[in-house]
Amino acid sequence: MALRNSADRFGLVTKSLHWVTALLVLSAIPMGLWIASAEVSLAILPYFARHKTLGIMVLGLIIVRIIWHRFNPPPKPLSHGSIWQDALALWVHRAFYVLLVAMPLSGWIASSATGIDTVIFGRWTLPAIAPAAEAWEDAGFWIHGVIGKLLITIIILHTGGALFRSFVKKDGTLARITRGG
Ligand code: HEM
Ligand code: HEM
Repeated sequence: MALRNSADRFGLVTKSLHWVTALLVLSAIPMGLWIASAEVSLAILPYFARHKTLGIMVLGLIIVRIIWHRFNPPPKPLSHGSIWQDALALWVHRAFYVLLVAMPLSGWIASSATGIDTVIFGRWTLPAIAPAAEAWEDAGFWIHGVIGKLLITIIILHTGGALFRSFVKKDGTLARITRGG
């Protein structure tokens, strides 16, 4: 299977980045919702750390993906035969890139503003990227929550669209990003 994308096929690098990122995001979201709603206690602190590690991994992978796609653009989505559906698919893909940068950055800013070190993989302390101040913390977590809801919405649209096209319209959309070739 080719590593690089071509005009009509996803290469192995893009496919791998897609599915590893999807797995991390789909793990980070429920964990984030859970830590945000749970009573803060010693037992829950490791889950904050795991959530931050997952989130920073997403940031790293999305930066790699943006750089990779500058040199090796992914193929355009298959046409639905409808202008608005084609535009929706394209804009959902674009929105993913914006939100997957904004989401970890807002989490990192808000976490920095708490004054507590942001430690990933249980050993590396990231630099603080915001002043330790309540106003930054409140705004940062508010933005993190709003972007989280937007992200959940477009994941539902994107997954629903992919499943509909593959199993109802049977146009091979899912196979493009899963199978070899
Ligand atoms: C793509 C990456 C990320 C996703 C999808 C994600 C998702 C979420 C979600 C859905 C919530 C619940 C928000 C709410 O309902 O208020 C949350 C909370 C949280 N996130 Fe993230 N997050 C990501 C990255 C990060 C990063 C990089 C950090 C810090 C370095 C972080 C720190 C936190 C913290 C501390 C909370 C709890 C907020 C609270 O106690 O109110 N997140 N996250
Ligand atoms: C958080 C989870 C996900 C994110 C962030 C995401 C993001 C993306 C992005 C940005 C693209 C455009 C190609 C690229 O730029 O790499 C894409 C393509 C695609 N995704 Fe996802 N995706 C996610 C989950 C899923 C799931 C769960 C499915 C299937 C059920 C899926 C199916 C597809 C398909 C079939 C394509 C190719 C569409 C085409 O033909 O152009 N994705 N995804």
